[in-house]
Amino acid sequence: MTIPYPTIQPTPAIAAVTPPSGAPRPRVTFLGTGYLGATYAICYAELGYEVLGFDVDADKIAKLNAGQVPIHEPGLDELLRRNLAAGRLRFSTDIAETADFGDVHFICVGTPQRADGMGADLSYVEASVTSLAQHLTRKALIVGKSTVPVGTAEWVEQLVDKHTPDGLNVEVAWSPEFLQEGFAVDDVLRPNRIVVGVKSEWANGMLYAAHKGVFDLAATEDREVPLVVTDFSTAELVKVAANAFLATKISFINAMAEVCEASGGDVTQLARAIGYDPRIGNRFLQAGLGFGGACLPKDIRAFQARAQELGAGEALRFLHEVDLINLRRRTRVLQLAADLLGRRSGPAGPDFAGTRIAVLGATFKPNTDDVRDAPALAVAALLQKAGADVHVYDPQGTENARRAVPELTYEASMNEAVTDADLVCVLTEWADFRNADPVALGEFVKGRKVVDGRNCLDPALWTQAGWEYRGMGRP
Ligand code: UDX
Repeated sequence: MTIPYPTIQPTPAIAAVTPPSGAPRPRVTFLGTGYLGATYAICYAELGYEVLGFDVDADKIAKLNAGQVPIHEPGLDELLRRNLAAGRLRFSTDIAETADFGDVHFICVGTPQRADGMGADLSYVEASVTSLAQHLTRKALIVGKSTVPVGTAEWVEQLVDKHTPDGLNVEVAWSPEFLQEGFAVDDVLRPNRIVVGVKSEWANGMLYAAHKGVFDLAATEDREVPLVVTDFSTAELVKVAANAFLATKISFINAMAEVCEASGGDVTQLARAIGYDPRIGNRFLQAGLGFGGACLPKDIRAFQARAQELGAGEALRFLHEVDLINLRRRTRVLQLAADLLGRRSGPAGPDFAGTRIAVLGATFKPNTDDVRDAPALAVAALLQKAGADVHVYDPQGTENARRAVPELTYEASMNEAVTDADLVCVLTEWADFRNADPVALGEFVKGRKVVDGRNCLDPALWTQAGWEYRGMGRP
């Protein structure tokens, strides 16, 4: 659905602004068309904005202009094609064109973990801001969306001052995003909050206008999207604090899983029971193989590194434990596999030589093709390293997994992966695996033994079908 865009009517507290391009509503650009930038560009066109997506990767831009989404994200393909056809959306590798087009430029480039430490690598932020700034010819607002160490916005402001021609008065703001892969379209169109870090009324008004489509959509659906207007530092911190909290919640329940394993408790029942307390809540309390992906692991490390630089390292020392608990879950799967296969663990861990193991799942969570820092793929590689012949099946992630870990054997279906397996490990909770029929699967395997790395199977059903079952944090 495309939202008709009325004239900008800000709330009394936010001043009306005229976009410098003279367009009735701000024209927006997204620099970096990875997960974040591509999704935002497509969804903002859907909201009715005129949008240009920029990337230095010519292949990616050609694909997007041809209507192909380079990632697997439910619903995005259709929105891309519709908005290209409507003429509101296009993609370019030309930074001068991008600078000329936009009133509000969103920086959406990656901030990966540095190769030489735990901190964030800001080289893509620096490159995109610098080249954009050098090509600007009129006033504009540059808005950071990438997840960055606190203090980055001030530094970006200095970069912009240094590289824009005198007198343009280009401004900077920060507006973190909170999209989850698999739900990215809805998270952009229907966010649970919008946070903006601004220094001027003009920037505030401009950002309000650049988000008005979101507020209007909410109004038509009888919802409200809370807006938090704050300073640069707080806006930057909101994102890393939110991810640190989520990571901590997951590691908390995985720590409880460890205690359950030692004491005979069942962490799934424990999570359910504590989750009924609304102060705790039952979301992000799923014990299993732990968190992965392009955000949580690197963000908690970068947050610690930055706090250390600021002299506040003590405050975030617990995040080191959060990381360790998370990584220990991978070793736990190996222990369970060794236990089921009757393999003894030596000082280097168990030896799986001569066994065939099916790994179901390679992505870091279901409904994505993303294998970045995926616990499932990491465990598959560990099993193979320990001597097993590992056969992997993933509904969407095979291509990326093969590129990341080519030494594993990848199968085209679940049945092929489990054929002749001595052990099946379910490591990503895709619906296909959750709903798999243990009786039918049992016909293909050599040994009916299963490790449920995500506690996503029904132990009673699998046990009845003759499988030896091991879950995470379950007796
Ligand atoms: C996360 C944040 O949720 C999002 O707000 C932020 O913008 C980017 O980082 P995402 O990386 O897409 O999003 O994944 P998320 O859904 O948060 O899951 C992260 C990992 O935690 C996955 O590997 C998932 O399997 C794991 N997880 C999640 C658990 O192990 N248990 C849970 O209860 C929830």
